[in-house]
Amino acid sequence: MPKITFVNEKKEIEVPAGSNLRTEARKAGIEVHPWIFKYPGLNCMGNGLCATCRVLVKDGKDHLSKQGLIEKLSLNTIHAFESIGHEDEMRLACQCTVTGDVTVETKPAMNISGEVFWQKPFPNK
Ligand code: FES
Repeated sequence: MPKITFVNEKKEIEVPAGSNLRTEARKAGIEVHPWIFKYPGLNCMGNGLCATCRVLVKDGKDHLSKQGLIEKLSLNTIHAFESIGHEDEMRLACQCTVTGDVTVETKPAMNISGEVFWQKPFPNK
């Protein structure tokens, strides 16, 4: 069975292959939504639209399903600001099917102090 390691919570859980990352985290008592967005009605309840279930994949990104159209649109348009500098590692937990061991950071902070963050909007600078 695949193992999900939650860095911030210092918790590991085993889940059946093919499980949904957000669902399994919540079953284990791990909140993937920050602040008030954990309440039903203040997030999109797993539809890939609100991007409040963002996780930063620290290890095992090939053990998650590929990004679908909705996740790509969500992370690359409306919510692109939150992913700058972590485009390849930022995922929406609700859109991830777990197929192998992964390590994730829930509620990742924006990389506003990183050099990459300030270069992305102005790539020619
Ligand atoms: S719950 Fe809204 S994008 Fe995942």
